[in-house]
Amino acid sequence: MTITYKDSEGIAGMRVAGRLAGELLDYLAPLVKPGITTNELDSLAEAYTTQVLHAISAPLNYAPGGHHPYPKSICTSINHQVCHGIPNDKPLKKGDIVNVDVTIMKDGWHGDSSRMYMVGEVSVAAKRLCQLTYEAMWRGIVKVKAGAYLGDIGYAIQSFAEGHGLSVVREYCGHGIGRLFHEDPQVLHYGKPGSLDQLKAGMTITIEPMLNAGRKEVKEMGDGWTIVTKDRSLSAQWEHTVLVTPTGYEVLTLSAQSPAIPGFVAPSA
Ligand code: MF3
Ligand code: CO
Ligand code: CO
Repeated sequence: MTITYKDSEGIAGMRVAGRLAGELLDYLAPLVKPGITTNELDSLAEAYTTQVLHAISAPLNYAPGGHHPYPKSICTSINHQVCHGIPNDKPLKKGDIVNVDVTIMKDGWHGDSSRMYMVGEVSVAAKRLCQLTYEAMWRGIVKVKAGAYLGDIGYAIQSFAEGHGLSVVREYCGHGIGRLFHEDPQVLHYGKPGSLDQLKAGMTITIEPMLNAGRKEVKEMGDGWTIVTKDRSLSAQWEHTVLVTPTGYEVLTLSAQSPAIPGFVAPSA
């Protein structure tokens, strides 16, 4: 596979798809309450995507090499689940932390974003993990500009996370995105400054760190999709889709109710 560079028409398409992914997460936010099941969230997300956004849920039936088709429209990963949790009929309960990961396809372009939702009151440790993971994503995003190295992003995230006693999941990473859900390059959330490939204007990538409160090791559950922490410690993830510009970056998956951008982030070019 190769890296794709978006021209002005591609950038316009990616802006629309990205905005719709953000709007879907905004729509879901007030619904994530104690008692709702993740299957109910999935059905509501599918209906909103098709009927309101006039778009397609990219995860539904997604079958990358070696996997059986993903059976739902969104991923819902709860507590010690790291990513790719499959919605089911179990109600959410007070104190749960849930990552909802959505990917919209609109006019052939993909927008991929995820957020953490806290179900009712959650523990201080769970809230801290969600907030630090959000900041870690932004520590990576601000490194994006033409000429920067992929290793700069990974280093920024890893050093921030480990500096706060959290661990970085290695097996899953960000990715190029465009007409395909997953394109080159891989965007690792750990690494060394100045290493790996350089970013170029027109690339669109995701940054989506998964941070664990305990050890970094993960394992796959018997359903062939759900990834959990081996030590059953809490895990959190946030994701944005980002355009590389000559002078910096443009976050494509922002929407009206995206959480506040951290104070250290300078207005981007
Ligand atoms: N949205 C995930 C990502 O950020 C991928 C989910 S693949 C699925 O790359 F099949 F589980 F939906
Ligand atoms: Co995603
Ligand atoms: Co992604």
